[in-house]
Order: sequence, then structure tokens, then C-alpha cells
Amino acid sequence: MRLQGKVCLITGAGKGIGAATAKVFAREGAIVEIAEVDIQAANSVVEEIRAEGGSAFATTVDVTEIMSIEAWIRLVMERHQRIDVLFNNAGISSVGKLHEIGRESWDKVMAVNVTGVYLVSKEVLPAMIEQKNGVIINMSSCIAEIGLARRAAYAATKGAILSMTKSMQVDYAPYNIRVNALLPGTIFTPFVEDYLKRSYEDPTAAIDTLKQRQLGKELGRPEDVAEAALFLASSESRYVMGAGLAVDGGVTAGKPY
Ligand SMILES: NC(=O)c1ccc[n+]([C@@H]2O[C@H](COP(=O)([O-])OP(=O)(O)OC[C@H]3O[C@@H](n4cnc5c(N)ncnc54)[C@H](O)[C@@H]3O)[C@@H](O)[C@H]2O)c1
Repeated sequence: MRLQGKVCLITGAGKGIGAATAKVFAREGAIVEIAEVDIQAANSVVEEIRAEGGSAFATTVDVTEIMSIEAWIRLVMERHQRIDVLFNNAGISSVGKLHEIGRESWDKVMAVNVTGVYLVSKEVLPAMIEQKNGVIINMSSCIAEIGLARRAAYAATKGAILSMTKSMQVDYAPYNIRVNALLPGTIFTPFVEDYLKRSYEDPTAAIDTLKQRQLGKELGRPEDVAEAALFLASSESRYVMGAGLAVDGGVTAGKPY
């Protein structure tokens, strides 16, 4: 039990990587608190965790809405009086060349992927500073380090997260708070399925194109990232600070040919 009794907050854990992480954390003894806009999806993750004897709660939260975040953190503090881990996972995609991206869509992806991490962290940090202990994991992407066609806005958000993570680490190291980022490659989740449907006439054939970008034979599974999140959340990574951990099937390691 690598997270026994730890209060772990995960945003966007109704589906995909967040849902897989909630289950892995609960299996390791964590008390999981999920913040989601899709409360139905979050509730079914909670039910699944409880059915297996784990501990989990779900709250309707939009990470761009400060009032809903404040209410969530108040509830979490009333319930547990502490916060050990925050996984800023919620995120949305944005596809298009820079000149094709409308202002509304630019603002939306910035709001969820960057401002959302700022707002939730801002509300959680006072508790961690007071405890002089905590772990924050921010969801970046391998796209923070390499260019990819038609992803300018999304890439900008994930690059911002990686930079923010390093500066946060510098500021909060004196309080024994570790801040790291995850940089996944292509993980097969509803997020990627949606992107494939919107971007390609033949989504199945497109999967082969995605595989050609990486060194590993298969696309990533949500559990691959969840296990990396577990490592960053647990004390096994106590000497890992301000790092960006690639979980990308070798996309950023080099070209296969
Ligand atoms: N899937 C990939 O290939 C991949 C690769 C690199 C990084 N990521 C990042 O991982 C994270 C999770 O991705 P995923 O593939 O699991 O996505 P997903 O779409 O499967 O799940 C994301 C969840 O976040 C929730 N969410 C969206 N906006 C929200 C908001 N404003 N407030 C609260 N919750 C909100 C959604 O309802 C959804 O349940 C994202 O930040 C994404 O950018 C994904």
C-alpha cells in the first residue's frame, strides 16, 4: 500500500487517465477525491472504487470556476483536515494551425489547461504549506518538448504547465512540497478517440499513423500514466523534484527511422 491513508485530489478523473489514476491510487490505500464537470462519469468511478473496498468521493467542479473550486476544497478539508496529493489532470484538446484557431477556442483551452491548474493549486497550496508536506503532479504532454502538426494552442498550454511546474517547485521546496509534471505520449482515451473522429476520415487507419510517431509498438494505456502518477505521488520519488517525466513510448527519445 504505497498511498495508505493519503488524501489524494484528482481533477478530471471521470474518464481516461484521471479515472485510471483514481483506481490505482485507491488500490494503494488512498482516499480519493475527484473533481469533475461530468459528475455521472465521476460517480461511476467512485462506485467502482467503493465496490472494491476503496475510499472515494466525487464533486462537481469546473477547474475554470473559482467558486466551485473553493467549495470543493472546503468540503475536502472538512472531511479529511488535510491534502496530501493534488493531481492536476483535467484538460481539453484543441486542434488546428495557429491562424485557424478562433479566439474563443484559444481562450477555452488556455482556461482549462493552464488557468485551471493555477486556480486549483492556489486553493490547495495553503493547506500543504501549513502541513509542510505535499505532492503536486501537473499534467503536461510530450508536446511540450516536440512540435506536432495542428496543435499550436494545445502545445502552448502544455509547455506552460512544464515551465510552471519547475518554478512552483522552486517556490515550494522549502515547505517540503514536491511538484512534478507528467509528459504522456499518445494514450488511448476518450480524448484521443474524439480527436481521431474529428480529424480523420478513417480513425482506425489514423491509429497506425500515431504508432509511427513512437518507438513502442502499441499506443499508451491510461494505466501506463496512472502507474507513473503513483510513483510521483508516493515517497519512492522523494528525490524527484521539478521534473518532467515522459511516458510516451519513446516519442521524444528519437525518430524510429
Ligand atoms: N490522452 C492522451 O494521449 C494525452 C496525452 C498527453 C496529455 N494528456 C493530458 O492528460 C489529461 C487527461 O487526458 P485524457 O486523455 O484522460 O482525457 P479525457 O477527455 O479522457 O478525460 C479528461 C476528463 O477531464 C474532465 N474535464 C474537462 N474539462 C474539465 C473542467 N473544466 N473541470 C473539471 N473537469 C474537466 C472531462 O470531463 C474528462 O472526464 C489532459 O490534461 C490531457 O491534456 C492526454
